[in-house]
Amino acid sequence: MTQKPNPLSSITIDGPIPAHLARSVIEQTLRAAILDGRLPCGTALRQQDLADLFGVSRMPVREALRQLEAQSLLHVVAHKGAVVAALVEGDAAETYALRLLLESEALRLAIPHLDEDNFAEAARCIEAMESEADYAQIGHLNRLFHMALYNKAGNRRLLTLVENGLIEEERFLRFNLQAMGLGKISQDDHRQLLRTAREGDIEACLKALEKHLGRAVEVITRFLASRVGE
Ligand code: NI
Repeated sequence: MTQKPNPLSSITIDGPIPAHLARSVIEQTLRAAILDGRLPCGTALRQQDLADLFGVSRMPVREALRQLEAQSLLHVVAHKGAVVAALVEGDAAETYALRLLLESEALRLAIPHLDEDNFAEAARCIEAMESEADYAQIGHLNRLFHMALYNKAGNRRLLTLVENGLIEEERFLRFNLQAMGLGKISQDDHRQLLRTAREGDIEACLKALEKHLGRAVEVITRFLASRVGE
């Protein structure tokens, strides 16, 4: 086996990190490196290595790792520490059934409070996705689009769970849409979500969301099936 370069060497830190920002800087830096593949699935992240790399104590490292674990980006394994998670964990149908519950509730709570700024942001994301060819960017815009419609839900804990689900999906989209040869992704579902939200038609909007997430779970299930035997 050839010696692989240490994935952590792909992470660069500009200057000392102020103590009060340490947790969020570490979290954001590691999240970006996991999402863009510099830290591949299965990479072990040792607390002491990270503390040395960022020039901080182990406490903010531990807190940042806990946040990333809540976002399903890594797992804490006994005796091994934190490990970058596989792209899709467990049963995709179960994951999406749960996401549908959470996102439906966020949408239902948010719709009565949405304003022109929210609709404009959502429309901007749709237009950007129409012309975007880079799947990493599409994954990111997809998350921003959905959050624009959920942000006014008025329940921070619910929104954290919802956004964690979207981050997991963003990571999947980045790596796999291209490999699956899906070509240009239709924005019809997103347009329908935006239109029904703008009309304040909660029932129609929830139906559109169910259809949209139903399509996503189909794509992911097909992807997982295609990997069987790899
Ligand atoms: Ni979407």
